[in-house]
Amino acid sequence: MGALSRLSQAQSPRPVRTARKDTALKTEFPADFVWGAATSSYQIEGAWEADGKGESIWDRFSHTPGKIEDGSSGDVACDHYHRWPEDIGLMKSIGIHAYRFSAAWARILPRGRGAVNEAGIDFYSRLVDGLLEAGITPYLTLYHWDLPQALEDAGGWTARPTADAFAEYTDVMTRALGDRVRHWMTLNEPWVSAYVGYEEGRHAPGHTSRAEMVAASHHLLLAHGKAVPIIRGNVPDAEVGLVLNLYPVHAASPSRWDRRAAVYQDGFYNRWYLDPISGRGYPCDTIEAFGVPMDFVQEGDMEEIAAPLDFLGLNYYLRHVVRSDQVPESENLPQEVFYREEHTEMGWEVYPEGLYEVLGRLHFEYQFPALYVTENGVAFADPPVRDGTVQDDHRIRYLRDHFKQAARAIEAGVPLRGYFVWSLLDNFEWSYGYTKRFGLIHVDLETQARTLKASAGWYRDVIAANALTD
Ligand code: FCB
Repeated sequence: MGALSRLSQAQSPRPVRTARKDTALKTEFPADFVWGAATSSYQIEGAWEADGKGESIWDRFSHTPGKIEDGSSGDVACDHYHRWPEDIGLMKSIGIHAYRFSAAWARILPRGRGAVNEAGIDFYSRLVDGLLEAGITPYLTLYHWDLPQALEDAGGWTARPTADAFAEYTDVMTRALGDRVRHWMTLNEPWVSAYVGYEEGRHAPGHTSRAEMVAASHHLLLAHGKAVPIIRGNVPDAEVGLVLNLYPVHAASPSRWDRRAAVYQDGFYNRWYLDPISGRGYPCDTIEAFGVPMDFVQEGDMEEIAAPLDFLGLNYYLRHVVRSDQVPESENLPQEVFYREEHTEMGWEVYPEGLYEVLGRLHFEYQFPALYVTENGVAFADPPVRDGTVQDDHRIRYLRDHFKQAARAIEAGVPLRGYFVWSLLDNFEWSYGYTKRFGLIHVDLETQARTLKASAGWYRDVIAANALTD
């Protein structure tokens, strides 16, 4: 018997029942499966300078001409800062069990550390109370990319003290909300913060340096590692996790060069984060490929980064298929290949099987105690609001296909505990501004009117049945 099958037997998978009823195939989820929806502070809150909030790197970036595709910003966004009671009502009408949201660090500590802005705490406190009253469990992400600008001015994530500032912020938040919030996530997608923010420059703070990217990735992971014991210290029965964007990486052909390109790319996207948090250190092949001196790693860092977690959150959107130019190794940069016909508005290939592949890997190769899909969803060009709804059949199909892969993973023994659809609301999609709509709920940006899309109704039925029927 192989090691993997032994492992899957030892973990005693929870049942997912697939039964034929008449002609319909029914896929049931475990009884305590958590169905949710996700958002992030900068993308929905607006109120960018209300009630003592400090400036964040996304305020600065979006106010810089030329950075956002449609010239917009998150200044108002979905005005969730003022409309949260209505939004909780909408969540309740869909029947979601849990809501994943993030806090804006600069609302709490306007300058990143030091003086606490009580009005910022009050906002999240009221939101949490509102959720609990509605029977919705809060899942709180401490950092979803909106670093206080004051910290960026002191070097941002390339500077080690930013990790200490994050620890301070974590302490303030968990002391204030830890009596009511049990589920905490430290960072959302540190790969995006480090790479897209510091090397590609498409996100705030908009730098373009490989060396900065690598240093930022280390300080992000260090911040995460420092935060984990603080959360545990302040929150009784805390469930602590980290959220990563992960991808299956496939070689475009079985050639030795293409396979090498896939290994490289897997290190870049996946192993660079998965290995250190699992106590394996940074992957040597990726260190070599980055070619950046790792002199910012100090004694004890790798132990802190490997703080045991209760769960890993997976944000799943696409796979990468890569090929190589077959040039000498040093310049052997992988090239993206586009495979399937179906792409989303983001230009991302629709590949539901990849969700199964990544979940399987996280369990069988890395053995996280529990997993959540903390984001999955899609931007398609939705039809307009008509007769009080938006007939987004493509989104229903997309979600159904991905939910099925989640069920398949559970059946294979993966301890998947829940699924958060991205996103609750159409919102500010970073450098794309408002040109991409991911919501279960349509938001009219002029009037702020909310309209449930057909996918929201479909999701309500899935949650109520705790099953898919097709
Ligand atoms: C993820 C982000 C989220 C949203 C989706 C589409 O990478 O975490 O904020 O932008 O992509």
